[in-house]
Amino acid sequence: PVQNMEKIFQDKIDAEVRIEPKDWMPEKYRQTLIRQISQHAHSEIVGMLPEGNWISRAPSLKRKQILIAKVQDEAGHGLYLYSAAETLGISRDEMIEQLHSGKAKYSSIFNYPTLTWADMGVIGWLVDGAAIMNQVPLCRTSYGPYSRAMIRVCKEESFHQRQGFESLVVLSKGSEEQRAMVQDAIDRWWWPSLMMFGPHDSESTNTEASMKWKIKRFGNDELRQRFVDMCTEQVKLLNMTLPDPDLKWNEERQHYDFGKINWEEFWNVVSGNGPCNKQRLDARRKAWEEGGWVREAAKAHAEKRAVRSKR
Ligand code: 3HC
Repeated sequence: PVQNMEKIFQDKIDAEVRIEPKDWMPEKYRQTLIRQISQHAHSEIVGMLPEGNWISRAPSLKRKQILIAKVQDEAGHGLYLYSAAETLGISRDEMIEQLHSGKAKYSSIFNYPTLTWADMGVIGWLVDGAAIMNQVPLCRTSYGPYSRAMIRVCKEESFHQRQGFESLVVLSKGSEEQRAMVQDAIDRWWWPSLMMFGPHDSESTNTEASMKWKIKRFGNDELRQRFVDMCTEQVKLLNMTLPDPDLKWNEERQHYDFGKINWEEFWNVVSGNGPCNKQRLDARRKAWEEGGWVREAAKAHAEKRAVRSKR
């Protein structure tokens, strides 16, 4: 009976045994993984758009090469994660349809505009920094294909964060205009980066089950706190400030206290009314339509090869 199966399943989770595609799993475990992994993949793919916007305007060949490599990495992360989600029984077309129809979510952070070159450095430092904070624990997530995809992804993410921070160090040693450009970008990206970790655990609908099934290893607030503590030290190296007057070391907690997040803005962006939501989904739908012939050609080629290999 199902109760036994659920007990055997939970014992495996508690014993840190990875769950593989062919193993029995509670339907809710399957569904919540399809939800999280597909939305993670959508985030990677949509995340290519804000940065792609600056490839043709990078200030040097070196910066252009680095940015092209990073955007290509994000595409690869998306494809890994779509493949990991497919092992749970959802098709690629279904996931793409969910993104294009607005049914599926993707990370709110990618609905903000990239206004200056310094945004590229701040995205590397803060957005990829937050992504690493959230994705390192996912290397030990209970679902095998997801954890293996994350191990590869995290290696590339550290390059993303390093290159971003390095470009900010260069700019922060530059002219007054360059320094002002960095501070402006930090001011615009700081709070949206904190929102990447999700709502407070008390408001989080998925955290309890996600922790019981060891999909999530730490709550949203704990990872967000680690991120604030880390960035508050790093920003000093840039001689810049974070736009939060309430940021203050709390000796007793051994963490930084910080200000209130604007959850109205968060839910506004998540529900589709952020600065760039329409632009991002229009771009994805257009890319999908214009790429139709490539998918048809690849299918026709695969069918021809299948016939040839039977001769
Ligand atoms: N943007 C959009 N939706 C968000 C969000 C955000 N920043 N934070 C939370 N949400 C959504 C959740 O998806 C959930 O909605 P759903 O049930 O319809 O999916 C709802 O808000 C409540 O949040 P929960 O905390 O209950 O949801 P989770 O337990 O899924 O936790 C999460 C949210 C921490 C983002 C988790 O899903 C996760 O770890 N996902 C994998 C990592 C990921 O997707 N990171 C996003 C950035 S990817 C990236 O940065 C690429 C890098 O290369 C730049």
